[in-house]
Amino acid sequence: MKKLTSESLRKMYLDFFESKAHAVIPSASLIPENDPTVLFTTAGMHPLVPYLLGEKHPAGKRLCDVQKCVRTGDIDEVGDSSHCTFFEMLGNWSLGDYFKEEMIPWSFEFLTDEKYLGIPVEDIAITCFAGDDDCPRDFQSAELWKKCGIPENHIFFLPKSGNWWGPAGTTGPCGPDTEMHIIRNRTEADKLSCDEFDKAPAGVFLEIWNDVFMQYNKNEAGKYEPLKQRNVDTGMGLERTLCILNGKDSVYETDIFEGAIAEIERLTGKKYSEGGEVQKAFRVILDHVRTATFMLGDQRGITPSNTDQGYILRRIIRRAVRYGRNIGLVQGGLKTIARTIVAKYRDVYPELQANEDKIYDELEKEENKFSRTLREGLKEFEKVAASLTGKVIDGVTAFHLYDTYGFPVEITAEMAREKGLSVDVAGYNAAYAEHQEKSRAGSEQKFACGLADHKEETTKLHTATHLLHAALKKVCSPDVEQRGSNITEERLRFDFNFSRKLTPEEVAEVENLVNGQIAADVPVVMEEMSLDEAKKQGFTGLFESKYGERVKTYSIGDFSREICGGPHAARTGELGVFKIVKQENVSAGVKRIKAVLIKK
Ligand code: ALA
Repeated sequence: MKKLTSESLRKMYLDFFESKAHAVIPSASLIPENDPTVLFTTAGMHPLVPYLLGEKHPAGKRLCDVQKCVRTGDIDEVGDSSHCTFFEMLGNWSLGDYFKEEMIPWSFEFLTDEKYLGIPVEDIAITCFAGDDDCPRDFQSAELWKKCGIPENHIFFLPKSGNWWGPAGTTGPCGPDTEMHIIRNRTEADKLSCDEFDKAPAGVFLEIWNDVFMQYNKNEAGKYEPLKQRNVDTGMGLERTLCILNGKDSVYETDIFEGAIAEIERLTGKKYSEGGEVQKAFRVILDHVRTATFMLGDQRGITPSNTDQGYILRRIIRRAVRYGRNIGLVQGGLKTIARTIVAKYRDVYPELQANEDKIYDELEKEENKFSRTLREGLKEFEKVAASLTGKVIDGVTAFHLYDTYGFPVEITAEMAREKGLSVDVAGYNAAYAEHQEKSRAGSEQKFACGLADHKEETTKLHTATHLLHAALKKVCSPDVEQRGSNITEERLRFDFNFSRKLTPEEVAEVENLVNGQIAADVPVVMEEMSLDEAKKQGFTGLFESKYGERVKTYSIGDFSREICGGPHAARTGELGVFKIVKQENVSAGVKRIKAVLIKK
């Protein structure tokens, strides 16, 4: 096996797929656009859903990238050797182009060839889909692996629970997959028959790569209908692969965290290698500071707040502060550690460099805010725990710890667990709802993971979002820019930079402008061009594309011109009546509008 650094593994992967005629595309934002069901980008395929469903991608049918991802479902597990809330996913895609016959030999070549990862063939195990009423057993993949040279006794079959990917939400693109694993214990592996992969003791296999053959769409009735096109979607976790290749026990011991570990050691005088609780604190800080750095430094950067993504960011920073204090990390430490993270990644993710000051300022602000109440809050918590008659901290008390001392309920719950206690989270939610008149249940649900669909209603609302954006530029200020967009079947939500809420007159003017465009039944025109050309022609958009790359543009007459992946309604006349239903404050300079389309 080849020993590689994170830099050389990224390059090797992208070079390999470039040599197979793939276009390298940049990592999309961590904040999904127009996706009401998830808070963060969770996999490389996530920003590509429209193209997997049949939209044309301007860079072609063969793509590869390294995508920033955040998965926070297991946040309380962070501190062990493998869990991270942020990770990078190496991936390649066929959008209705090649399929299993090409992908499996390429995977084999990349894994085993001395020019690439150089993993011995006998150390690789494969799993394929076992088949059920929805989709037949994947004999073809198994045969292709055998032809490459994988011995038959290292090819296993698993049902949907193991060898099926997606949809991440209730509906969307999905299909059988074939997963590649490193065999860590050959004696144990060789005892298993082809249907007994799951019977292996922990640690015998380590998954390294996943090839998904995305050929179905799960519809609302729960049925799997064939997609317009057969796609390939693959994902290889960068950190985990580095860990395997370099024979490390933990992702935290790869080159990625070297600089940050040295910095924490310098700041605290403690050693990562001490193990135990000290090592756990190091890992929590390493992971959480890295995640916070990427969230704050994202091209659609967010800031700590009490809802949605901002709440997760707040929770992550505060958890890092709490663990930091346990090992003597003094106030201001997070910012210093973030500098080592930016230094490590600045060449791969230029947005971190561009947003460097914001990253440090926001980390400092949030750390200061929490530090002010942390000590008193901890005292209060100890008092509560000591005077408890049962084993459950009630919801009102947990809410008091949040409201007065800034302890996110998840942190209170974690501290409770450390003492063998628990928190009445339902009671907390009720207390929160009563106090705020809105509960965080919305963000909890979104947390469950999922993907946007491309139903007619959401497509229309997407077009209405473009009209709203253009109207706001005309009514409020030409400097208005999109800061976020989120669409459900019922409504659109649009965040933009503006210092105050719109007056009732301005709201009416925006609605009139949008409804005027709808009444004129203007065609929505898509055109592909180079990014430079699009900028020259006055198209707005998030310029996350690389220099010289081709982009898709959507124009609605002269009214709206945006760089956008689509899809959109064909004509504005399909939209119905546009109505603004709510205005909210997101932060000092960012306002939010919620609007609906009423059927005529
Ligand atoms: N989408 C697949 C995964 O995340 C490749 O594993």
